[in-house]
Amino acid sequence: MRKHIVAGNWKMNNDLPSTQALISDLKSKEITSDAEVMIAPTFTNLFHGVEALKDSPIEVIAQNMHYAASGAYTGEVNADMLKSIAVNTVILGHSERRAYYNETDDSLAKKVDTVLEKGMRTIFCFGEELQDRKDGNHFSVVESQIKNGLFHLDGAAWSSIVLAYEPVWAIGTGETASPEQAQEMHAFIRTTIADTYGNDIADNVSILYGGSVKPANAQEIFSKPDVDGGLIGGAALNADDFFAIVNAF
Ligand code: PGA
Repeated sequence: MRKHIVAGNWKMNNDLPSTQALISDLKSKEITSDAEVMIAPTFTNLFHGVEALKDSPIEVIAQNMHYAASGAYTGEVNADMLKSIAVNTVILGHSERRAYYNETDDSLAKKVDTVLEKGMRTIFCFGEELQDRKDGNHFSVVESQIKNGLFHLDGAAWSSIVLAYEPVWAIGTGETASPEQAQEMHAFIRTTIADTYGNDIADNVSILYGGSVKPANAQEIFSKPDVDGGLIGGAALNADDFFAIVNAF
């Protein structure tokens, strides 16, 4: 059966002292739900995070990765670099990466291939923009993002894939998709996967919701049958808020 997952995407926040402080706050909290918990600090603080959370159930994950094995890609980080510090999960395709760094379905498909070749796992993000929703294109946009990024994979690969539906209009805006809107899209995503890969694979994929999840709305969103957790931005920067969400199942 699919897992509940709550992952904190710290984005470009927290230098080393504030990373140390937040991690020590997180370590003082108790996970009382069945959720797998992950945090994604910035690259410079991943190694500290892994060391500091060695004996904790909280997994440290990366926010991005290059698809190439190595070489002349100034400023980039590859899979082996992450694996060498025990980071085995990477967020790919976040809307900020797609919008500001020109990440395309094609480059993301290559990154997913590298994740699988290297025996890693990904939280693969996608979601429509406000105009897409206004135009009634949200289902077709999401369908093409997941098909172009992931549907070249074989069935076995899906055990290494977690999905994160993040409507762009709800990220960092305080505006959350309603629990019904999230459920509707998550059910659509699961059906789309089932149509190609069958019910078993579709039922076992965790589909996270992301976009202004807060302690006040987490429980209602997570109560929806096809919502298996959250990818949390702003609220992940405060240990009390993050753990209120982790324990909202
Ligand atoms: P938010 O960000 O929770 O601050 O809206 C979510 C995300 O971008 O992953």
